[in-house]
Amino acid sequence: MAESITITDNRTGQAIEIPIVNGGIAATEWSKLLPGVWFYDPGFMSTAACESAVTYLDGDAGILRYRGYPIEQLAEHSTYLEVAYLLLHGELPSSAQFEAWTHEVTYHTFIHENVRKRFLEGFHYDAHPMGMLVSAIAALSTFYLDAKDIFDPTSRSKQVTRLIAKVPTLAAAAHRFSMGMPFVYPDNSLDFTSNFLSMMWKVAEPRFEADPILAHALDVLFILHADHEQNCSTTAMRVVGSSHADPYSATAAAAAALYGPRHGGANEAVIRMLTEIGGYENVEPFIESVKAGKGRLQGFGHRVYKSYDPRAKIIKRTADEVFSVTGKNPLLDIALRLEEIALSDEYFTSRRLYPNVDFYSGLIYQAMGFPMEMFPVLFAIPRTSGWLAHWQEMLDQDSKIARPRQLYVGTEPRDYTPIDGR
Ligand code: CMC
Repeated sequence: MAESITITDNRTGQAIEIPIVNGGIAATEWSKLLPGVWFYDPGFMSTAACESAVTYLDGDAGILRYRGYPIEQLAEHSTYLEVAYLLLHGELPSSAQFEAWTHEVTYHTFIHENVRKRFLEGFHYDAHPMGMLVSAIAALSTFYLDAKDIFDPTSRSKQVTRLIAKVPTLAAAAHRFSMGMPFVYPDNSLDFTSNFLSMMWKVAEPRFEADPILAHALDVLFILHADHEQNCSTTAMRVVGSSHADPYSATAAAAAALYGPRHGGANEAVIRMLTEIGGYENVEPFIESVKAGKGRLQGFGHRVYKSYDPRAKIIKRTADEVFSVTGKNPLLDIALRLEEIALSDEYFTSRRLYPNVDFYSGLIYQAMGFPMEMFPVLFAIPRTSGWLAHWQEMLDQDSKIARPRQLYVGTEPRDYTPIDGR
């Protein structure tokens, strides 16, 4: 076979030929030929857990495409809601489809009053908005019992719409609560992103008018964050979804995975790092301390991208647009200097460490007035469409329940000793 590998089992001397399909070895083939021999792959460094047609990512070439469309073109010409449709349906919508989709999402933005009054308002006054969001998404499953009909196409599509529409409402509600401000109901006359900004910032004015440049910039950030193939949170979505849990429970699990600083929390870590550096003159000593092993350069490096993250390039341009309205974020100069030094330093170039999407996104969010605690929440809003696209795909593939094997390293069998004999 041309597309195969041959492995010699030195225990038996037997040579085994294993076919390579789509660049991978099917585990079913492997386990047939080498029963009881497992891949030991913590962190899934070399394991493809599924086939997927949603997003293409080439980490060496710095390429990201949703359903075949380059991220650069989508960021320039599309809108987040259109991209969400693309991710979920595989094709860009026609005008009629887009109109119907926009209407559906717009009219599902309201949340049940009990979610807000009984549930969200029950949190401690200083609750983290991401913790509130994760819990509130899970709580939605108790409001929509039809969500358990995951193989009923009508029910499935209704839950998908509800989730995409309601996550921004929950996100803004979590922020308002943590600021001690009253909840703002969705405004159905606004587009997706402007409505979110209205729910975030509206005070006493009858209608909140978002600055169009800022609304557009946030929409671009939503496009850039909508999907990223089998990242940690999407994997959580697929793993929980593979048990056939309802989509609210699976989305809550995905959002919980996103909460961590190695994933959706990285842009907050960038702001903390830049603040700690404090001044232009401290950049070089800081880089030296990173090279000496004292911490990491936050917003740098990626498991898959081994060249410039294409999202980071787009974000840099978006940052300029935002700063033209808000004024420059004073941390920007430190960030630019840090990038300049790191990109010409052998430590970073030899490890192929480049800025990732989070290096600049935090600066933009901060300039737009979002508190740092909201950064992972802002990531979860658009990523909901990516999680759901993967969830649908996984169910349509009739995939097996996620259940990895382990290499047992514990004690040998032993007999129970009564407590007074230990
Ligand atoms: N600063 C300094 N050194 C680094 C960094 C960094 N940010 N990232 C990796 N390295 C070094 C690391 O010390 C190691 O060096 P050595 O070979 O000498 O031991 C080498 O590069 C490989 O690192 P790794 O930890 O094996 O790489 P990984 O693929 O497991 O980690 C990562 C990927 C994103 C967790 C990591 O690069 C990191 O911690 N970056 C900072 C946090 C960050 O920006 N996260 C956001 C990721 S993008 C948003 C998202 O997808 O959620």
